[in-house]
Amino acid sequence: MRKPVIAGNWKMYKLIGESIESAVSLKPLVANAFHAEVIIAPVYTALRSVADRLDGSNIKVAAQNCSVQNEFGALTGEIAPVMIKDAGCSHVIIGHSERRQFFAETDETVNRKVKAALGAGLIAIVCVGEDLASRDAGTQNVVVEEQVIAGLNGLTVSDMERIIIAYEPVWAIGTGRTATPVQAQEMHAHIRHLIAATHGNQVAEALRILYGGSVKPENIAELMACEDVDGALVGGASLSAESFAGIVNYTG
Ligand code: 13P
Repeated sequence: MRKPVIAGNWKMYKLIGESIESAVSLKPLVANAFHAEVIIAPVYTALRSVADRLDGSNIKVAAQNCSVQNEFGALTGEIAPVMIKDAGCSHVIIGHSERRQFFAETDETVNRKVKAALGAGLIAIVCVGEDLASRDAGTQNVVVEEQVIAGLNGLTVSDMERIIIAYEPVWAIGTGRTATPVQAQEMHAHIRHLIAATHGNQVAEALRILYGGSVKPENIAELMACEDVDGALVGGASLSAESFAGIVNYTG
């Protein structure tokens, strides 16, 4: 059985003090969430402080991005995956649609970042998802397929043990318009078939595929009821400890 993953992407919200406060408030609220892995992704500057406060808890910490290389170098403003690991993180989000849209990330940079992240011993949460025009044109499967194939290009079967895929349709992010469980299930099954073809059935069966896009305490249960939905990547509703805990504790 795949253990669900519920991850909160805090995006560019919260100063260090607020990040610590939210993380500390979240701890007791999810302390009994043995059914899922719980992850939060604060901004870079808060990673160390948050990771320190969560040490020994069941909440893991992720960065929201990383550089394409681990070697130190003259790359002003970049943060290497080894530095993210050094800051107390176990995971890193790669290829979020906001990075693709506003920071010119391509499938090729996503692939390089994934490899660098794995090289640093991090688990990569690789984001894919079509925009509204592709969904309206009915080309969503092809678009996502290309992102998955190119983003994971060259990864071995053992590399895939440290990959989590997040399907986040761009039209559902921050819009309040969630994909229906049927739409989410269709795409997740499509991605799993694709991975079965590239890396074999065993890898595909073990792969966690998260859904992201307007996930809330009110809709998490119906999404999690889908066979191929193995968790959620939550934006807005992860900013409050109470609402994020409501998502984590969807079973209870
Ligand atoms: P929302 O949950 O705010 O729609 O954001 C989803 C997301 O982008 C998570 O990475």
